[in-house]
Amino acid sequence: MNPLPSLPETGSSPVPRHVAIVMDGNGRWAHRRHLPRVAGHKQGVEALRRVVKACIERGVKVLTVFAFSSENWSRPQAEVAGLLDLLAFVLRHEVDKLAEAGVRLHFPGDRRGLSERVVQGLAAAESGTENNHRLVLNVCFNYGGRWDIAQAARRLAAEGREITEKSLSEATSLAHVGDPDLMIRTGGEMRISNFLLWQSAYTELVFSPCLWPDFDAEELDRALAAFAERERRFGQTGEQIRPAAGQHYA
Ligand code: FPP
Repeated sequence: MNPLPSLPETGSSPVPRHVAIVMDGNGRWAHRRHLPRVAGHKQGVEALRRVVKACIERGVKVLTVFAFSSENWSRPQAEVAGLLDLLAFVLRHEVDKLAEAGVRLHFPGDRRGLSERVVQGLAAAESGTENNHRLVLNVCFNYGGRWDIAQAARRLAAEGREITEKSLSEATSLAHVGDPDLMIRTGGEMRISNFLLWQSAYTELVFSPCLWPDFDAEELDRALAAFAERERRFGQTGEQIRPAAGQHYA
């Protein structure tokens, strides 16, 4: 397993190591153009491509995106089918390009409910890119924060292990990357919508009115600039992490 998880750093860091994104606004983007909602999701894949490139260029090491939530099954059948088709499209046409760019792929989420073919495609994409180190891209599919906590607890119980914060963290489906430093939600809504509930305890949140299909490197830079202004205290006081000028601490 990749030794990526690390202890949180207090203070501010110019570039977040791990960025998570709720890619919202595809439906509205399509609606404004009198297109079916799936057209917005297709355009969303283009935006994702741009953001992967921009993250690599800026030195982000982990990008985690919410592509299909546990709750998205209740959307209209045509939209669910369109999103499943998009996943199949990404597996067929994007994995090689991502691998060439040095991207390691993971698909955190519940594999139940997905076809055998897709499940095999996900596993092949994960194993085929496991030696890449430039960027870890987690595409959360059929994922829910509550599902993740519950599956981690079930796993520990089945193994007869004690449930502690550490053991539960290690049993979640994002254990290979550690917690996100920054979570961006596009589309103007200001909520987490069952994304990384366990992992976002100390994540900095940035909400953008930009609809996801319009999101680009400039919008990413706006979010990174907002992050750079934040002071991360992880429960400590400002004085503890910002010693007064002139004072020296061992
Ligand atoms: C939320 O926008 C977006 C989704 C439910 C799907 C996100 C998927 C992609 C961006 C495509 C990437 C997919 C794969 C398989 C890699 P919304 O539909 O809720 O937008 P709205 O709030 O405007 O209706």
